[in-house]
Amino acid sequence: MNYFDVKDKVALVTGSNRGIGEAFVKVLANSGAKKIYAAARDLDNLKPLIAQYPDIIEAVLLDVTNTEHVQALCKQIGQLDLLINNAGIANACHSTAENALEIAKTEMETNFFGPLQVTLALLPLLKQSKQAAIVNISSIAGISNFPALGTYSASKAAVHSFTQGLRAELVNEAIQVVGVYPGPIDTRMAEGMEMDKPKPEQVARKTFEALAEGRVDVLPDDFSEQMYAAYLQHPHQLEKAFAEMM
Ligand SMILES: NC(=O)c1ccc[n+]([C@@H]2O[C@H](COP(=O)([O-])OP(=O)(O)OC[C@H]3O[C@@H](n4cnc5c(N)ncnc54)[C@H](OP(=O)(O)O)[C@@H]3O)[C@@H](O)[C@H]2O)c1
Repeated sequence: MNYFDVKDKVALVTGSNRGIGEAFVKVLANSGAKKIYAAARDLDNLKPLIAQYPDIIEAVLLDVTNTEHVQALCKQIGQLDLLINNAGIANACHSTAENALEIAKTEMETNFFGPLQVTLALLPLLKQSKQAAIVNISSIAGISNFPALGTYSASKAAVHSFTQGLRAELVNEAIQVVGVYPGPIDTRMAEGMEMDKPKPEQVARKTFEALAEGRVDVLPDDFSEQMYAAYLQHPHQLEKAFAEMM
């Protein structure tokens, strides 16, 4: 089997105006992608990125929670080989916080229902591709609940489960389905976390390495790798380690 190669591919990255999404666009552009749809909910925020790669990037207005945006997107795009469901939000909300229900609903809306509706809408195009891939950005907190980000962890667990379901259902299609499970990465989302944080480009590079080698789980940094190893020894070992970090 020939595994996914980004060269000459058409890609779409959600939440591409900053952080990990922006890094994915840059790494794609520097790896020979033919065209990149850079999606963001405010097109003005994409101007610096487009100025760097004006020939291959096309801006797309996309709030992943907005069904009208998703419908318009389908009309704008004629071909797609790679979908990167990256857009996400995180609140420092414990599962027992008074406002946990309200926060959890917002996070699920963006982090789970968003990629779900974007993927369903773009699946017909991906199925037409000779070599396609769907990359879902979950989190190591989606593998085991990180209590300081309790409701966020639940939304990322939903992304992980969705990724598994997609992979099973698309097994007979030419579509690789990959889950990415980062630890803290140096973006606005992890601003308050005082620890070693790799640059977002590392997440993109590790993801494309995994796609090229046919691996389905991406642990893109030392922290996520160590935590996943603990999980593989025993799921409760990671649960306990995360609880102790509270
Ligand atoms: N950084 C980490 O430590 C870390 C670790 C594990 C997983 N992740 C995951 O990695 C992904 C990227 O996060 P990041 O670190 O790059 O965070 P970030 O710098 O906060 O960027 C988040 C991106 O998502 C976009 N976004 C938020 N809500 C959206 C919506 N409803 N529709 C479309 N775009 C939306 C933001 O757009 P605006 O500029 O318009 O807000 C921004 O472009 C997320 O799924 C996150 O959960 C991050």
